[in-house]
Amino acid sequence: MPSSRPPTSRGAPPPRADTPFTLAPGEPFTWHSESDAPEPERLSPADDRLSADAALKRVRRGEYLLYTGDFHNARQLLGAIGRRLGHAEKARSPLEAFRAERRARQLEHETLSRIVVALDSQYRLGLSRAPDVALACRQVWGEPTTAFTLVPLKQLLGMLGAAEWRRKGLSVPGLTGLLHPHYGVYLPTRTDYVELLLSVPDVKGKRVFDVGTGTGVLSFLLLQRGAESVVATDCDSRAVACARENAERLGLARRFQAMEADLFPEGQADLVVSNPPWIPEPPKNRVDRAVFDEDNRFLQRFLEGLPSHLAPGGEGLLLLSNLAVLLGLRPQGWLEEQFARCGLSVKWTRSTQARHSKAKDRSDPLHAARSREVTTLYCLVPAPRGA
Ligand SMILES: C[S@@+](CC[C@H](N)C(=O)[O-])C[C@H]1O[C@@H](n2cnc3c(N)ncnc32)[C@H](O)[C@@H]1O
Repeated sequence: MPSSRPPTSRGAPPPRADTPFTLAPGEPFTWHSESDAPEPERLSPADDRLSADAALKRVRRGEYLLYTGDFHNARQLLGAIGRRLGHAEKARSPLEAFRAERRARQLEHETLSRIVVALDSQYRLGLSRAPDVALACRQVWGEPTTAFTLVPLKQLLGMLGAAEWRRKGLSVPGLTGLLHPHYGVYLPTRTDYVELLLSVPDVKGKRVFDVGTGTGVLSFLLLQRGAESVVATDCDSRAVACARENAERLGLARRFQAMEADLFPEGQADLVVSNPPWIPEPPKNRVDRAVFDEDNRFLQRFLEGLPSHLAPGGEGLLLLSNLAVLLGLRPQGWLEEQFARCGLSVKWTRSTQARHSKAKDRSDPLHAARSREVTTLYCLVPAPRGA
């Protein structure tokens, strides 16, 4: 979330001939942090003379370091600090391993996010040998509203990577044309679940709801296979903007409508598709809401609401991985109980073994669970009365 206020500073960073500007003490700025990290109360200047050990000591004391040296050195500093933070502690069970790994990643994120950089009123980065970051910043934040913007360097690097994906586009199996994802929107790089959707029979002429649309990828696959129209929802405005832009690019905008909403749009559809967040743990930031579903709230509410959003003869298409079961976060059989509780029966299923790179990485602390991960497409229909 952005915020604006003047910082106090432990002294201005040393002026450099090869940087476009330096941020003076008391200068007003806008602070952007994806994880809602508190804005820096104080900024300590840092540059290429700072070693990774010294930087780590200072950020662990709670300092924010405003880096004004060389861009490539700054990236290397982040990498060197990350390596010093090490890995998660040894765990006995898959669930302990999962939680330890999540804690370690969170600590790494909080630590590295204390290395910040400043951008001027044109989104120029105040580091030597810096790339042009203005387009990536405008895509995520819109036009600058203050003379200076502060952002964790790690986040800015993520934004640059995302801008590159958005420029180049992503090829998705079964989709004619490229998908151009936006920053902060769930990226369909795990194509196994996308391929499952290609096996759905009788899509032609169907009116579809896509709940939690992300980039819109599932909607576009169904529209290209002959679905009549899609109404898509997402709780994140970035996903809605991304899906709309991609529908335009793919020439599907006339039959595609996206809106910001919690779960379902109003009305009924012949097909209601959803690939919900699949890990029932609390999300820690905005991006996490694509993956983490605290207490299965999305899933339970989706199943409860599904029967009333199906037109007569309609079908629900739920994509779900069993990773939560393998980690011990969801009991075996729980999902089937929820189907029954919500008056749904399973018409058919299709499953696929996870093929993404993490499923094959033996050094991954979660390898035991990930290597057995299976994603299933459940076709759900209202259970016959009295069943
Ligand atoms: C796993 S991603 C799937 C995205 C896309 N359908 C796909 O298959 O690539 C889950 C999506 O659900 C969205 N989401 C999470 N909670 C939601 C809610 N309560 N209502 C609508 N969308 C939600 C997230 O923002 C995210 O885009």
